[in-house]
Amino acid sequence: MDSSSPPPSPSPAPSGSRGASNATQRWSILRRALLARSSSARAQEGISSDHQIKDGTNNISRKASRGFNLIECHSLPISQLAKSFGNSLNGNENDFGQKDVYVCYKLPCRDSSKLDLVYRKEDSLELNDIEASNKYNIDTTGLVCCWPSEEVLAYYCINHSDMFRSKKVLELGSGYGLAGLVIAASTNADEVVISDGNPQVAGYIQKNISINTETFGETKVKSMILHWDKEQASEILNTFDIIVASDCTFFKQFHEGLAGTVKSLLKHSATSQAIFLSPKRGDSLDKFLGIIKENGLRCELIENYDPTVWNLHKKYVAGEDRTWPNYDKEHCYPLLVRISYFSEF
Ligand SMILES: C[S@@+](CC[C@H](N)C(=O)[O-])C[C@H]1O[C@@H](n2cnc3c(N)ncnc32)[C@H](O)[C@@H]1O
Repeated sequence: MDSSSPPPSPSPAPSGSRGASNATQRWSILRRALLARSSSARAQEGISSDHQIKDGTNNISRKASRGFNLIECHSLPISQLAKSFGNSLNGNENDFGQKDVYVCYKLPCRDSSKLDLVYRKEDSLELNDIEASNKYNIDTTGLVCCWPSEEVLAYYCINHSDMFRSKKVLELGSGYGLAGLVIAASTNADEVVISDGNPQVAGYIQKNISINTETFGETKVKSMILHWDKEQASEILNTFDIIVASDCTFFKQFHEGLAGTVKSLLKHSATSQAIFLSPKRGDSLDKFLGIIKENGLRCELIENYDPTVWNLHKKYVAGEDRTWPNYDKEHCYPLLVRISYFSEF
């Protein structure tokens, strides 16, 4: 993978809309992962990953061929990272495994900070991922890849770094945590908590924090397992100045929990706000906004929030740029939602 070929960028479709249960879909994904042929074999057969998924698993992850490619990145052999850290970050010999890849990002900010992220390789879902997903009532989308909206969120945060100065920040449903790590590395935030409800995913967040600690300066950075359907710990209630999240609104069954989590963790102040970047995905984003309002929070939906992202979007839609052939604005273009207690914006 080089800078012209970003981390794999599937886009999840709304779950549960084709009748099959989530459990069935997860097992179907597992079966697919176990039976997956090598990508070279697929390439020989001329089957792109965009067109492989035709059954119920489409409801959980639908692969796109790329993302917006806003942050330069390239991959290096995982063995190189393992060598630097003695393969024992947390005393666990599986810290850097055969199933992982290592992607190095060069951030488009003043001091060109670098971040290294460990991701799962494509098609490497395992039985224990599915077991954990069932046990903790959570999907596996956080392990699939870094989704296009996460890169857009990270890019937006770099371009609005001043808003994070001295703030306490939380990322919800972070997956591998690119945006949270970017905030930690490129802004003067006081503290960044990077969270996900899937314990397997939280393991990767912690790894990614551990290998980048030198880039965080004075900013404190923590990982957290935070499930939106659980009661949140009293010490984090009413504490965060800024909450960020990307591509977390298509799980309709968790809309109430997610809205309640934002409401209970966002600091009760005129300046605190949550920033979500989410593709529309059918009516899921609109439904989530309705639930936000029912919870007494205010929100604003912004379509054009960044000229670079907007121009790329327009070109993909018009077919002037054909580098993202299956670009579909409903599922690929993230809208920005600003949520707060008091502001009218
Ligand atoms: C589509 S992924 C997006 C991940 C990341 N933000 C990105 O865009 O790459 C959705 C994330 O939300 C997490 N998630 C789903 N349901 C959740 C819940 N009820 N509580 C906490 N996290 C949840 C998943 O584990 C996953 O990491």
